[in-house]
Amino acid sequence: MLDLSGVTVDYAGIVAVDDVSLSAAPGAITTLVGANGAGKSSLLRAISGLIRPARGSIRFDGAETTGLGPEELVRRGLCHVPEGRGLFPYMSVRDNLLSGAHLRRDTARVRDDLDRVFHYFPILRDHQHRIARNFSGGQQQMIAIGRGIMSRPRFYIFDEPSIGLAPLIVREVLDTIATLARDEGCGVLLVEQNANLALEIASTGYVMDLGRITLSGPSAELKADQRVREAYLGL
Ligand SMILES: Nc1ncnc2c1ncn2[C@@H]1O[C@H](COP(=O)(O)OP(=O)(O)O)[C@@H](O)[C@H]1O
Ligand SMILES: [Mg+2]
Repeated sequence: MLDLSGVTVDYAGIVAVDDVSLSAAPGAITTLVGANGAGKSSLLRAISGLIRPARGSIRFDGAETTGLGPEELVRRGLCHVPEGRGLFPYMSVRDNLLSGAHLRRDTARVRDDLDRVFHYFPILRDHQHRIARNFSGGQQQMIAIGRGIMSRPRFYIFDEPSIGLAPLIVREVLDTIATLARDEGCGVLLVEQNANLALEIASTGYVMDLGRITLSGPSAELKADQRVREAYLGL
């Protein structure tokens, strides 16, 4: 579904992503773990067209997409739920959710999708007219995921969805992502600091360090790998 080959991102000569190749299958969760500053967000931004890679090729859904802009990629079914969520804090929950559908013209189905979001997150239905900033961190993450659902994607990119959340809520958010992927048959590329939980819900994992992929494989194998256990699982 998503294939990267030799992707390099640099910021005015400073290399943040260095010759990265990876693949993410449809209908599966692929996770990318790594320390702060490893280049994970830069890689995700390159995939969703927010920055242009200096080198390399990105293919999504069978087509070359390197250099395409973010709107075109959303139209093609790619959804990026960004680090920090990127909500409109003074807009209502409902309007934040609808902002995820702004490129769509199929109004009737947009309404169905809003119901689908409320099915996943009933609390958002009850409080849909309140402004987003009044919600807890976990609930704001639900709004951000819901806004992603509203673009009707076939592939989701999540950048640190659990950051700043209490441990119990972290599990809830990651479980929701797993459910969403299963129910809708969507592919997911999940960047997550909680490597333990991420490797639990993913089928395949990549480890990134200083801009490079240092390890990859089935999640179960990575979880058992001594280097991963020491560096990322605190074991
Ligand atoms: N807009 C930017 N301009 C310059 N350097 C950046 C920018 N964004 C990120 N970086 C640098 O690129 C490197 C990778 O950052 P980032 O992709 O955010 O890593 P991660 O998401 O793994 O924490 C870091 O050294 C960071 O300081
Ligand atoms: Mg990041």
